[in-house]
Amino acid sequence: MVADAARRRARTNLPLYTRPVTTPGSSTNEVGGRTPEARLAAYAGGRFRRVPGFLNEVSAAMLVSIAEAQRRVSIEGPVAEIGVFAGRTTTLLYLLTQAPETVVGVDLFEAGTGAHGHPASSEKAVHATVRRFAGDASRLKTLKCDSGSLDPGALLRLSGGEHFRLFHIDGDHSGAGVQRDLVLALATLAARGVVVTDDVFNPNTPEVFEAVTDFVRETGALVPFATAATKMFLCRPDDAAFYLESVSALGTRFDRRTWHVLGADVSSFRQPARIRHAPGGRPELRGRMLRRARRGLKAARRRVHAVARRLPWQPR
Ligand SMILES: C[S@@+](CC[C@H](N)C(=O)[O-])C[C@H]1O[C@@H](n2cnc3c(N)ncnc32)[C@H](O)[C@@H]1O
Repeated sequence: MVADAARRRARTNLPLYTRPVTTPGSSTNEVGGRTPEARLAAYAGGRFRRVPGFLNEVSAAMLVSIAEAQRRVSIEGPVAEIGVFAGRTTTLLYLLTQAPETVVGVDLFEAGTGAHGHPASSEKAVHATVRRFAGDASRLKTLKCDSGSLDPGALLRLSGGEHFRLFHIDGDHSGAGVQRDLVLALATLAARGVVVTDDVFNPNTPEVFEAVTDFVRETGALVPFATAATKMFLCRPDDAAFYLESVSALGTRFDRRTWHVLGADVSSFRQPARIRHAPGGRPELRGRMLRRARRGLKAARRRVHAVARRLPWQPR
């Protein structure tokens, strides 16, 4: 347990707080700490994997880093997500906000939608998930609809008229759908806000890449400042240097490289590569694997004999 906690802390570089608060006998209360910071550290540090969905460690760390940078310079306000699914990212966004900031989530909440044809989630289940990890979900506003049918006014009504400081686009993965969501995001984006587009680098959703790059080239309203996993992080050109600098500290945890993409300096982040050798290429590993397999086989034989000895009849 202690070793696990230490390993988790090293991975996240986030502070380790007091004992987790869980209700005895309840497997659904996973808030993970007394303070909002502790809940965030636990969730971003790995608990997000308990929620079905599409977010990994490096993307989670990026979102944390951006939200922290915004907090440092008093960029406050609601956040939005198109494509909530089961709420893996929504829960992180919730933990990255505080009252009175709202988290607005839009989804069709229907089975078989999206590029992955995944099963249905429901608004009720997403609210329960956020409560499970954040302790409450009172600031979460979900909307079951096609984001293509939304105009900026309809979306802003959910946030009490306030523009979004962080906008995650992960809904319709067609080129036209992503273009529409980008237009909506830009129209509702707060001053100094960030738009995160998922699946730009997913080989199964190539239209997302085309839509995002076309949007950047054609409007010039947003530029990329970072990429991580399948996501591209965008902001207004005037804020690019601020966000590029804000996320640069993640270079101590992840492999960071800097590129020039779509007219902007962009940092890419990824998990440090682990070089794996095929056993055939490492004779000493091959020997070790063979010895382990033989030991396993012997143990299995012993178990079969033990069971056979207890049978009322003797197998031939
Ligand atoms: C890849 S999943 C989202 C994953 C989620 N962001 C996460 O963190 O795990 C895509 C979601 O977008 C939703 N979706 C697809 N097309 C949509 C549309 N036109 N409007 C709203 N939601 C849509 C799907 O129902 C699905 O739940």
